[in-house]
Amino acid sequence: MSITVQKLSKEYQTQKAVDAIDFSIQPGEIVGFLGPNGAGKSTTMKMLTGFIPPSSGMATVCNFDIQKDTEQVKKNIGYLPEHNPLYVDMYVKEYLAFVAGVYQVKEVAKRVQEMIALTGLDKEQGKLIRQLSKGYRQRVGLAAAMIHDPKVLILDEPTTGLDPNQIVEIRNVIKQIGKDKTVLLSSHIMQEVQAICSRVIIIHQGKLVLDSPIEDLKKRAGDGFVYLIELETEIANEAWKEIGGVKKVEQQGALQWRISADKDIRNVILQKTVQMNWGLKGLQEEKQSLEAIFQQLTQAKN
Ligand SMILES: Nc1ncnc2c1ncn2[C@@H]1O[C@H](COP(=O)(O)OP(=O)(O)OP(=O)(O)O)[C@@H](O)[C@H]1O
Ligand SMILES: [Mg+2]
Repeated sequence: MSITVQKLSKEYQTQKAVDAIDFSIQPGEIVGFLGPNGAGKSTTMKMLTGFIPPSSGMATVCNFDIQKDTEQVKKNIGYLPEHNPLYVDMYVKEYLAFVAGVYQVKEVAKRVQEMIALTGLDKEQGKLIRQLSKGYRQRVGLAAAMIHDPKVLILDEPTTGLDPNQIVEIRNVIKQIGKDKTVLLSSHIMQEVQAICSRVIIIHQGKLVLDSPIEDLKKRAGDGFVYLIELETEIANEAWKEIGGVKKVEQQGALQWRISADKDIRNVILQKTVQMNWGLKGLQEEKQSLEAIFQQLTQAKN
C-alpha cells in the first residue's frame, strides 16, 4: 500500500478537525479528496506529510510510519501545500535547484530542466517567482513537489485560482505523472475529480462519509446507466423497450428521451437507431452527478 490511514484523528483545543478516519490507497491510484470548507482535508494532508502530528491513530506512507519514520516519509512524498509557500525573491530555476539540494537530488541541473519541461515553465524559468502569475507559481510548486521523484504526491487544491486553460494543463500534468505515482489531491471542483481521479474520498466534519471508485458512483443513483438521446423522428416510448437491458424510458421533449439501463448499451442503441432509421442526433451518457452525492453527504447535520 502507498498510504494507509487508521483511526487517524486531530484535535485542536476542543475541536475534532479529523475524527478517526480510515482509508488506504494503492500504488498508481489517483484519489480525489473532497469535503466542504473546514472538513479536515488540509489537516489530514499535513499529518500524512509529517508536518503536524496526529492526536491519535496512525498512518503509513510507502510502509513508513508517519510518526516514527518521518524522514523516510518525507523522502517518499511530494507535497503541494494549500497556500503554496515559495521563496518569491528567488528565480524559478534557482528555487528548484535549491529544493533539489534539500532533497539531495543527483544531477540537479538536469532534474530542474526535466521538471521545467514537465510543468510547462520553459518561458518563465528565468523570472523571479514574485513576477509570476498565480498559475505559474502553482506550476513551480508542483515542480518542487516532484523534484525528488517521490512515489506519492499529496496535492492540496492544486488547481485553485488557475484560469480554465491552465486548469486543463495542470490536470493533464497530474494525469501524466499519475501514471507511475500515487496521487492524493484535494479539490472543490467535482468535475475535476471525475476527470482525473479513479476514486473519491469525501470527508465531512472530520469524518469519512464516502470512499468509492468513481465508476461505482453511478450505481448509487439506482438508475444504473442513463442516456440522453435525441432523434430526428418521433417514436413511441415502447419502441425503446425493445432494446435489451432498457429499464426505464422517460420522454423529455418531443424528440428527446432519457433511458436507463442495467448495463452499458450505447452500442445497441446505436445499432437500433440506425437499423430503424430513427435519425440519431444525440447520444449522451448522463453521469450520476458527484455534486448531488456530495451535497447529500455533506449538508451539515450538526
Ligand atoms: N492550527 C489550527 N488551530 C485550530 N484550528 C485549526 C487549525 N488548523 C485547522 N483548524 C480547524 O480545523 C478544521 C479543519 O480545517 P482544514 O484546514 O483541515 O479544512 P479543509 O477541509 O482543508 O478546508 P478548506 O476546504 O477550506 O481548505 C477547521 O475547522 C479549522 O478551523
Ligand atoms: Mg484545506
